[in-house]
Amino acid sequence: MTPSPTFEGKRIILGVTGGIAAYKSAVLLRDLQKSGAEVRCIMTPSALRFLGKDTMSALTRQPVPVDVFPADSDVTESWSRHIQWAEWADLMLVAPCTANTLAKITHGLSDNMLTSTILAARCPIVLSATMDGGMYESPAMRMNRELAKKLGFHLIEPEHGYLASGLEDKGRLPENKAILNYIAEILSSNNTSPHILSGKKVVVTAGPTREYLDPVRFLSNPSTGRMGVAMAEAAKKLGAEVTLIHGKLADPVPDGIKTIEIISADDLFNAVQSHHEATDVFVMAAAVSDFKPATREEHKVKKDGAEMQIPLQPTPDSLKWLGENRRNGKVLIGFAMETENLIEAATDKLNRKKADFIIANTIGKSGSGFESDRNDVFLIGTKGTPSAFSGTKKDIAEKLLLSIFDNGSE
Ligand code: CTP
Repeated sequence: MTPSPTFEGKRIILGVTGGIAAYKSAVLLRDLQKSGAEVRCIMTPSALRFLGKDTMSALTRQPVPVDVFPADSDVTESWSRHIQWAEWADLMLVAPCTANTLAKITHGLSDNMLTSTILAARCPIVLSATMDGGMYESPAMRMNRELAKKLGFHLIEPEHGYLASGLEDKGRLPENKAILNYIAEILSSNNTSPHILSGKKVVVTAGPTREYLDPVRFLSNPSTGRMGVAMAEAAKKLGAEVTLIHGKLADPVPDGIKTIEIISADDLFNAVQSHHEATDVFVMAAAVSDFKPATREEHKVKKDGAEMQIPLQPTPDSLKWLGENRRNGKVLIGFAMETENLIEAATDKLNRKKADFIIANTIGKSGSGFESDRNDVFLIGTKGTPSAFSGTKKDIAEKLLLSIFDNGSE
């Protein structure tokens, strides 16, 4: 039997919305408390139709706010309670989370205490969406779930089974044990690593770019984006707020990482520029095309038997631009893939692009680099000798960031 997770010392806000599964939230609250968590509860106005506010208030020994505007005009706390509670929490769990609340929070609405607190929160937010009939798989909900993931929310999949309507479908609230295990994973992945990037905003670029010649053909490369995704995950584990700017990826992006999808090197450049001001650390792992077709044909190019030349022009170099427009305190980490003289070529790249570090590897080493889960790299800084890292991309990503940020480079 797997032991129950322990949340000793953790502060959790349980958000309850107006779905029939709200009747289970009182027991969920008790189970969170039994696991050691200090729990507060926020309910939406419609949740009150399914579960008594006094029940949750008695169990938490705290008020259970519903509206943003306090009835009693107690300005000492209530007017900014959504901010105070958001700052207090180590994690927010919305269970059950209705289609309505999911739609609101993915669009930044803040029309009650729960949606306002979610907007203000900086801690991980876990949503356990429950719906009846075809609601969960409806096109709008599918879109909102995708959006929720892009915005960094953690989504627990509902269970398949009997629903309140009598239909059998996907949409049930999972057992409390499954919810607790899910939360434990998020809290422990936030915990086991030192939070050396806490409070830092990190942008990671990953995956290949595509430079279209016509509507169906493009220049690209076989990058899977795995190294960049591993760097993004590692930065998140170390406490950073992470945004991943990415081309086509081989694997889905883990929950909790904000994502921006790009296609071309120009898109990447625009996204990097627009994040420049607010970002503390850039990790530039994208495999960017250095050239793009000089013109993009509107229609598919037809073969006419003759040889064909494609005039190319250079793409913007995002890393170089960041190096040339650097602000104090920002850390710039580039990647280099070389076919020969790895250390010399990568050191030259470090200097040319004015980066703080280059993570360099050699193309062609079997089982490593492009299209592989493993990597063998050298970390090259402006000082000291290069150090070698080998292992799965996941393993070395955290080691690289620890090595960079534990050496006082910030
Ligand atoms: N890079 C970038 N924009 C480009 C090309 C590269 O931001 N247009 C970044 C990559 O994400 C990587 C670093 O620069 O962090 C080095 O990429 P690489 O392709 O190895 O180097 P190049 O700039 O292409 O240099 P060269 O072709 O001379 O090796």
